[in-house]
Amino acid sequence: MAHDTDVVAEAEREAGIEVGEETARPVPLPAREPIDRSGQPLLSVQYVTRQIDGQTIIDNVSFNVWPGEIFGIMGMSGSGKTTLLRLLIGLDRPDSGEILFKGESITELSEDELNRVRKSMGMCFQYSALFDSMTVAENVGFAVRNRRDLSQDQRRRRVAELLDMVEMEGTEDRMPADLSGGMRKRVSIARALMEEPELVLYDEPSSGLDPIMACNISGLIKKVSTDTGSTAIIVSHDVPNLLGICDRILMLHDQKVQMIGTPDELREDDTPVVHRFVHGLGTADMTEHCSMR
Ligand SMILES: Nc1ncnc2c1ncn2[C@@H]1O[C@H](COP(=O)(O)OP(=O)(O)OP(=O)(O)O)[C@@H](O)[C@H]1O
Ligand SMILES: [Mg+2]
Repeated sequence: MAHDTDVVAEAEREAGIEVGEETARPVPLPAREPIDRSGQPLLSVQYVTRQIDGQTIIDNVSFNVWPGEIFGIMGMSGSGKTTLLRLLIGLDRPDSGEILFKGESITELSEDELNRVRKSMGMCFQYSALFDSMTVAENVGFAVRNRRDLSQDQRRRRVAELLDMVEMEGTEDRMPADLSGGMRKRVSIARALMEEPELVLYDEPSSGLDPIMACNISGLIKKVSTDTGSTAIIVSHDVPNLLGICDRILMLHDQKVQMIGTPDELREDDTPVVHRFVHGLGTADMTEHCSMR
């Protein structure tokens, strides 16, 4: 009797699919230039503290992100990653400390001034946050809906270009409710890129996706960042994908920065919480199975 693998191979041959060693090899991601950290950081977070309902969520956090960098922020659920991201784009303000974007402090800016700064930023929210009553094209083009300097045709072309970039070409007229989780993520990435931002912030871009789609989305983020030269900040607890695409990663724990380093530095770090997080080890009873990793 034929093994399952023989049956699959036979079916693939009949369908004209060749899965030899050559075709199975993944296409390499674009090569990245080394990041120049000698100039002004694109984003500088200095001694930032945020309290909510009397509880400290972010405590004296400082770090810099340089132009072109893919910067990861990881930490356990509830460690304050989304809170930090909201501070970075001025959706929330720190209780103390300062956040500078291209050398300009954004902590004291008025809402109007913040809107000017936010034009250089694209945000991809944790739950995709698409408008369910709008088509894919309307969602992607939302940020430029009132811009008079863009003709309808230019807008349509830009939307098509972005959908092509995230491999969602031809989906302009579909509604978000008809899309899978991975497709919604792709649309929200396209939407974040609409105004050609210098900085794109992604909150949990791979959460809720299967491991293959999570890997595809991470690869897409790396490709888009490298192709456009934009800077990316990715908040996630998807350790393998963060390690796979980031230039540097910050680990947030106990409201503080536990470590900032390259993926290799994180893999080798022996601070207990960093080691456990990076290698997926538990802390409670009955987590022996994790020590096999
Ligand atoms: N508006 C708010 N009101 C009260 N508490 C809040 C608010 N926003 C955040 N918090 C609290 O701040 C802490 C950090 O929340 P945050 O959403 O930033 O975590 P996270 O690291 O993004 O978690 P996850 O990985 O689950 O998305 C949590 O304890 C949360 O309950
Ligand atoms: Mg979050």
